[in-house]
Amino acid sequence: MLKLVVLISGAGSNLRALLDASADAEFPARVVAIGADRDADGLALGEEYGVPTFSVPFTAYPDRDSWGDALIDEVRRWEPDVVVLSGLMRLVPPAVVDAFSPNLINTHPAYLPEFPGAHGVRDAIAAGVTQTGASLIVVDNSVDGGPIIAQERIPVLPGDTESSLHDRIKPVERRLLIQAVLDIANSHLDLKELARS
Ligand code: GAR
Repeated sequence: MLKLVVLISGAGSNLRALLDASADAEFPARVVAIGADRDADGLALGEEYGVPTFSVPFTAYPDRDSWGDALIDEVRRWEPDVVVLSGLMRLVPPAVVDAFSPNLINTHPAYLPEFPGAHGVRDAIAAGVTQTGASLIVVDNSVDGGPIIAQERIPVLPGDTESSLHDRIKPVERRLLIQAVLDIANSHLDLKELARS
């Protein structure tokens, strides 16, 4: 059984999809803990699904590196096979990458390397493109520039707002994430090999 720690900053709708998938006895992965960098709404999913939660508030630390060190300690307690950044709206410092990558993966609401960063959906709308996408990557020390695990194109429709477009991207992110978790658990996807190539 693949053990996942999922880190969030927001509502955790993609996390909910993983928790729902894990509720199936046949699914080969379990979310063993949910962590956040703030008082994220999605932490409430821990109680709903009976999964432990923890918070390492970014603002409680003097700098990114000391926050990262505290995050590493919390995450390691759960001995995860894979750490999923599922809407963690924070760049993780190099020590976090060293501690967990390539078993550190991130969903992103754009077709990377297009529109990296915190506003992938907003930036795609502002650029006036007719298609964007969803990506799942291995986290490295770049900003959303790590090896691509999976990605899919999604059209930008006339009249789309940031929120209407994001609402169509998220289900694709969920599908890519759940498929990748399945593939890792079934040894059809080797993150080490992907990160080497
Ligand atoms: C997701 O679209 C995720 O890809 C994005 O935040 C959203 C979280 O939604 N992450 C980033 O933009 C990271 N750069 P959720 O909290 O409802 O799952």
